[in-house]
Amino acid sequence: MIVEVQNLCYHYKRSSGNIEVLDNVDFTLEQGEFVAIMGPSGSGKSTFLHILGCLLKPVSGSYRLNNEEIADLDEKRLAEIRSCQIGHVFQMFYLLPGVDVSSNVSLPLMYGNIHKKEVQRRVQRAVQQVGLVDRLSHNPAELSGGEMQRVAIARVLAQNPELILADEPTGNLDRKNSNEVLRLFRRMNQQGHTIILVTHDPEVAGYAKKQMILDNGSLRRA
Ligand SMILES: Nc1ncnc2c1ncn2[C@@H]1O[C@H](COP(=O)(O)OP(=O)(O)O)[C@@H](O)[C@H]1O
Ligand SMILES: [Mg+2]
Repeated sequence: MIVEVQNLCYHYKRSSGNIEVLDNVDFTLEQGEFVAIMGPSGSGKSTFLHILGCLLKPVSGSYRLNNEEIADLDEKRLAEIRSCQIGHVFQMFYLLPGVDVSSNVSLPLMYGNIHKKEVQRRVQRAVQQVGLVDRLSHNPAELSGGEMQRVAIARVLAQNPELILADEPTGNLDRKNSNEVLRLFRRMNQQGHTIILVTHDPEVAGYAKKQMILDNGSLRRA
């Protein structure tokens, strides 16, 4: 089991009162799974992914990633986990402006202890896999939306994490680019990556092997 979530609760604290988001969520994920999480806007999908990505800690309940209880870990170990075990793909791409594709793809590798030659090899291979070899020297401003998302995916491929978390990764793409990005996710899953894909679009969710719905703070099978 990669992910084991039990009785997980989360709320945001506001001076006007708490905003309840997750109410006793249970969720498990095995190696090689590809799960889509659907749910209406504001249902807590991004919050849940932030917790799974170790960017937010649960208010209560348990989240174990590869048998480590995340709430018990110090910042150093959390940083290691974020850079080695988890890859993120976002709706807004989050590429570094003003630097080329190659630098954007190698970004997460800069925090690890990886030899320069190995970094170059991984970047080359990842960029090849997403079909952007002829855009290596382009800055994000010189790319289309679909190409930007493929760069973000190449970044994850170079990082080679066990778990990939994608938050509405096709939200800013047209149908053709969206399908291309989803095929890349399917291929990453076939290569052994475990994927959680958040989307409000049932057609996008259809690319995953299993569909779940987050609503009213609870997660259930679709
Ligand atoms: N930083 C925050 N502070 C307070 N409330 C927040 C914050 N982020 C999100 N929320 C609220 O929490 C709820 C869940 O948000 P979110 O996880 O972004 O939902 P989704 O991704 O499903 O649209 C929403 O009602 C949202 O307004
Ligand atoms: Mg969201």
